[in-house]
Amino acid sequence: MTTYAGPRTTAPSTLARCRATVEPALRAAVESLHPQPRRMASFSFGWCDADGTPTAGPGGKGVRQALAVLATEAVGAPAEPGVAAAVAVELIHTFSLVHDDVMDGDERRRHRDTVWKAFGTGPAVLAGDALFALGVQTLAGAGGQHGAEAVGRLAGTLGDLVHGQADDLLFESRPWTGPGAVGIPEYRAMADRKTGALLGCAMTLGPVLAGAAPPVVAALSEAGRRLGLAFQAVDDLLGIWGDPRTTGKPVHSDLRRRKKTLPVLAAMALDSTAAEHLTRLLGSPEPLSSADAAAASAIVEAAGGREFTMEDARRHVTAAYDCLDSVRLVEGARDELVALSAYLLERRV
Ligand code: IPE
Ligand code: IPE
Ligand code: MG
Ligand code: MG
Repeated sequence: MTTYAGPRTTAPSTLARCRATVEPALRAAVESLHPQPRRMASFSFGWCDADGTPTAGPGGKGVRQALAVLATEAVGAPAEPGVAAAVAVELIHTFSLVHDDVMDGDERRRHRDTVWKAFGTGPAVLAGDALFALGVQTLAGAGGQHGAEAVGRLAGTLGDLVHGQADDLLFESRPWTGPGAVGIPEYRAMADRKTGALLGCAMTLGPVLAGAAPPVVAALSEAGRRLGLAFQAVDDLLGIWGDPRTTGKPVHSDLRRRKKTLPVLAAMALDSTAAEHLTRLLGSPEPLSSADAAAASAIVEAAGGREFTMEDARRHVTAAYDCLDSVRLVEGARDELVALSAYLLERRV
């Protein structure tokens, strides 16, 4: 296995470079939308307030667009397919967040109100649809000899995303213990679909458009999926122990909704006494108070659910490194992918 002497470029500078590369094309794409969904999309990207006043909000981290750009660079392809891929995945990602916040009932995202909270649920559904359609249209417009294959891959990813979100929602009403309880392998399959699929897709669309060799595409896809599993594990941790002032998202919302997140499932699996306490706290139909949510998070941590989840994330990132090592890639881009992967474990946002 390769050991890395340390990145020459830091993840924040890679994210900023990729954002600067992609943003003009992303803005141009959003500009083509009907004014109403355009306003909501621009709000979600942090480009304007709810009333349309331009802002320089933080928007998203841009992880998927960076993966798309870097993976394309890593196969030695020109920038254009990477930018088209990046715009498509960032649009699809934002669509998924706008709809996810409706499904999860969350009121804050990217340090501002969620789209449904700011504009209403009906308009938010439409904004998501508009972003979805624009993402597919952008990729289809990239054309070329391998355009159809790329669109086919995106369609498969969208199917996975819907499947994963359906499981995530259904898991809310499944029991914590006993017959019908959600096991860690089932959680993993759900997370692979709802999050891994899009990160895997982000790392393959540019290379596919550029005609990269199938084994290279397969390795990048698997690397992205593993990064997605790590990403979701860290997202689950931040949903319990993150600081809303840093994440821009609510804390304890997953606990309140009885989401089957990895730290809680792991705590239940590791410690039967903790499982009993947690089932009492999270299994009651009563709304979970802030005090109960804080008590549940302390039990999860004491039972080892927090450490298990972090270790799981580390394992997935190591597996992603192995995938990147298994094929020949342009060294500088590969190093940036490695640095970005390490950052996904340390992130507080
Ligand atoms: C949040 O994704 C949804 C998950 C898959 C966990 P991000 O944390 O990448 O969201 P933004 O784009 O940075 O807001
Ligand atoms: C992440 O969902 C996956 C998608 C949005 C498809 P979550 O519900 O776990 O993510 P956050 O925590 O709201 O960003
Ligand atoms: Mg959510
Ligand atoms: Mg969700």
